[in-house]
Amino acid sequence: MTDLSFSVERRPDPASDERRAQIHANPGFGVHFTDHMVTATWTKDGGWRDGKVVPYGPIQVMPSAAVLHYAQEIFEGMKAYRHEDGSVWTFRPEANAARMARSARRLTLPEISEADFIGSLRALVEVDEAWVPPADGSEASLYLRPFMYASEAFLGVRPANEVTYSVIASPAGPYFAGGLKPVKLWISQDYARAGAGGTGAAKCGGNYASSLAGQLEGIENGCDQAVFLDSASQEYIEELGGMNLFFLTRDNELITPELSGSILEGITRSSILELAKDLDLTPVERKVPIQEWKDGTASGDIVEIFACGTAAVITPVGELRWAGGSAPAVGGPEGGEVTRAIRQTLLDIQYGRAEDSRGWLTRL
Ligand code: PLP
Ligand code: COI
Repeated sequence: MTDLSFSVERRPDPASDERRAQIHANPGFGVHFTDHMVTATWTKDGGWRDGKVVPYGPIQVMPSAAVLHYAQEIFEGMKAYRHEDGSVWTFRPEANAARMARSARRLTLPEISEADFIGSLRALVEVDEAWVPPADGSEASLYLRPFMYASEAFLGVRPANEVTYSVIASPAGPYFAGGLKPVKLWISQDYARAGAGGTGAAKCGGNYASSLAGQLEGIENGCDQAVFLDSASQEYIEELGGMNLFFLTRDNELITPELSGSILEGITRSSILELAKDLDLTPVERKVPIQEWKDGTASGDIVEIFACGTAAVITPVGELRWAGGSAPAVGGPEGGEVTRAIRQTLLDIQYGRAEDSRGWLTRL
């Protein structure tokens, strides 16, 4: 169902070709933004309206806007990939649309239909197409960040009656500057990211705010990211602050923590579970005790570990540290062979270098 159409107000002073090329040469992650953004407004009485593509720039909200006080906010993350023939595609956007609808229900925000969600991405990419990095064999893409927040100026605690939806876009290189160098992880014991009945399965800002103290503790202990455990027993691995985790055993089981209600259901995660079968691996979703990782054995020796997500793609995981101990890295200095094979398979589909037999790509 489509509620929105998007008018276009072009920026009079877009970035020059030289400036864009400069950014594309070294995009980093999340630091440069395209010339335009999408906005749309929802009201309880009127539904969705005012779809627009406008120049990227500051947004105005009242200091009393509910989002600034009660964090009624959700977001999504996806990428636009340029193929060799110049066309621009995205990966499983209907899954992001469905997840945004689930997040919206959990945060009592209005749902945006799949058609409007994909329409908003198309509207932005059509205007800012030149910002999608060239197909040069690198892993550059245009990261798309749809988000929705309670813009109503009201301090009572209840679901907002006015909500703003927006999409911004940012040229993206690797999330981790070290490329395939394995990241070191820290077990966050003092800080949980989410708990039973909470918002862990929704993609809402609050989950990321609550992950920062554990993340900082990890950095202070020489690690790159924190691993969060289930908050009740602290026995089972959940995920990282912005990525899911996989473990490969010597007998080719590819294990990932089962969806507990407090883990984000990653689209990369579910794609890997499907691709595993093509690579003669046995995908397994189950509870994974942290003790198995500490001991290096999970129904067989753990031989490779990696994290995955849209921003991080597939990133090898190295050493695990916790207060008072550590477990050595497995899989070698550039990630294990299977980690690299899965990564390549996924990237080849996304960049149009391999057949998209599952119909995962949508042209923007
Ligand atoms: N877990 C968390 C907490 C995340 O923020 C992300 C990133 O979006 C993921 C997992 C991976 O999800 P996806 O593969 O859909 O990007
Ligand atoms: C993504 O992968 O899209 C995320 O939202 C994770 C975040 C760490 C950038």
